[in-house]
Amino acid sequence: MIARIIDGNALSTEIRGQLAERAAALKNKGVTPCLAAILVGEDPASAVYVRNKVAACEKAGMRSIKDVYAADVDPAVVFARIAELNADPSVHGILVQLPLPKHFDSDAVLEAISPEKDVDGFHAENVGALMQGNPRFIPCTPYGVMKMLASANVPLKGAEVVIVGRSNIVGKPMAMLLLAQSCTVTICHSQSKDLAFHTKRADILVAAVGRAKMITGDMIKPGATVIDVGINRTPEGKLCGDVDFETASAVAGVITPVPGGVGPMTITMLLTNTLEAAERTQMRCAK
Ligand code: GUN
Repeated sequence: MIARIIDGNALSTEIRGQLAERAAALKNKGVTPCLAAILVGEDPASAVYVRNKVAACEKAGMRSIKDVYAADVDPAVVFARIAELNADPSVHGILVQLPLPKHFDSDAVLEAISPEKDVDGFHAENVGALMQGNPRFIPCTPYGVMKMLASANVPLKGAEVVIVGRSNIVGKPMAMLLLAQSCTVTICHSQSKDLAFHTKRADILVAAVGRAKMITGDMIKPGATVIDVGINRTPEGKLCGDVDFETASAVAGVITPVPGGVGPMTITMLLTNTLEAAERTQMRCAK
């Protein structure tokens, strides 16, 4: 079998075109959607992610603010900046790029962001809302995966889903979203016994572990949908996912590539959440 590929770039282009139209309509009503991104430290991958997020905003006709702090910054400085952005009515979305340096209490930083501006969906209030089935902001990567599954018409009701990875950013919210669509969800992690036993049962397999090419074709059920959330580098410096694309695409029915799969969708959904935050403030003002 040769798997059908879900092209995250093409889907992103389509959705970002629609977002740009909505952003322009909002601008005509006097509101320019604005995302503020905070980066602490010099992690090169985080710097690239933030740069791409800011550039995508500008391209979609949205405003962005980028604040960069040295790795040894006093956390009080960052908390003060978050308070300022919370209070600024021209800012609709705020994100703090993770991971933060070790001297930060990351949970406290995420809780400091106003839940109404938490476009990552990481604030406990928004995590709780997602868990209860009434999400305000859906975390961007799992949100993007749901859009990709819908675009490829992958049946969800009753599907056996196996998620490899239990992070707050991907694994856990992914499980909640798929559960809400009546999937049967299993979450595997580093301590799971016999990972292949689980993955081979999956109609939909989501790999979100951060280990290059760890899911190989022999771990996949023939015809399954394989979603690769990983962004890793090979020893030669080439970008690759958590899935070994070569062997996996010979077994799977549908697959996402790396690069050009989930990655661009994550940013697209961040733009979606920012625009929605701005639309909500405009609706509140118009009332
Ligand atoms: N680090 C890795 N993924 C993400 C994300 O989606 N948002 C933020 N803020 N940090 C991240």
